[in-house]
Amino acid sequence: MEIVVLPTADDIAKAAADRIEGLLGRRSDAVLGLATGSSPLPLYKELGRRHSEENLSFADAKAFLLDEYVGLDPDHPEAYRNVIRREFVSLVDINEDAVASPSGTADDIAAACKAYEEAIQAAGGVDLQILGIGTDGHIAFNEPASSLASRTRITTLTEQTREDNARFFDSVDDVPMHVVTQGLGTILEAREIILIATGENKAEAVAQLAEGPVSAFWPGTVLQNHQHITVFADEAAGSQLKLRDYYDHMYRNRPQQ
Ligand code: F6R
Repeated sequence: MEIVVLPTADDIAKAAADRIEGLLGRRSDAVLGLATGSSPLPLYKELGRRHSEENLSFADAKAFLLDEYVGLDPDHPEAYRNVIRREFVSLVDINEDAVASPSGTADDIAAACKAYEEAIQAAGGVDLQILGIGTDGHIAFNEPASSLASRTRITTLTEQTREDNARFFDSVDDVPMHVVTQGLGTILEAREIILIATGENKAEAVAQLAEGPVSAFWPGTVLQNHQHITVFADEAAGSQLKLRDYYDHMYRNRPQQ
């Protein structure tokens, strides 16, 4: 696991965008895994800037979203499909039809989840997955007690996550109780993962993710089992890391090959 603490969210956005630009340079038809929430927004903005000012192209790329609220009107501005259209798709040249999201309105949600897993497989799997992390350690919407081998499914949000996400709605009562999410087992199959954490309220989750024992109690800890994961944290989110000096040393002296 590479843990990179950078001063600001903009520094993280640039470093993460470099990874995505590098990937698209090697494979213009890369498959991206997209997170919603606040954490990746500066990254999406930076990718949009590189598209308009530096011709970075997503024209051949595909993308899969991590999760979706269940029961939210498909036109609701906070439905994740609409969030990603607004915050990413509209800023770049990715084909809108090449961006898939789990269905939170299907009549048969279990069948839709299975089809979603199959669609990821049919696309060749995710090359680079972008993640955020919840204050309770969730990644995608795999809340504490999620099976570390879980697949795409419907699940129930913790009250803490509903309260955290109430800022996007009129009140906490409007935050759906249920979501469809890629599972931890699904996420682990991505070939590369970038996790972005900013703000003091993520500090405990980041410390657990990097330095805690692997446990369903802190679902993000399952990422310790991934071969190619980079955690980008700002100073506040990295403030509880015990081995911070070593991570900085490792980053300054990273091998050139
Ligand atoms: C959203 C997602 C969630 C968020 C997490 C952090 O697609 O997968 O795991 O990444 O809830 O949200 P923010 O970034 O808003 O703090």
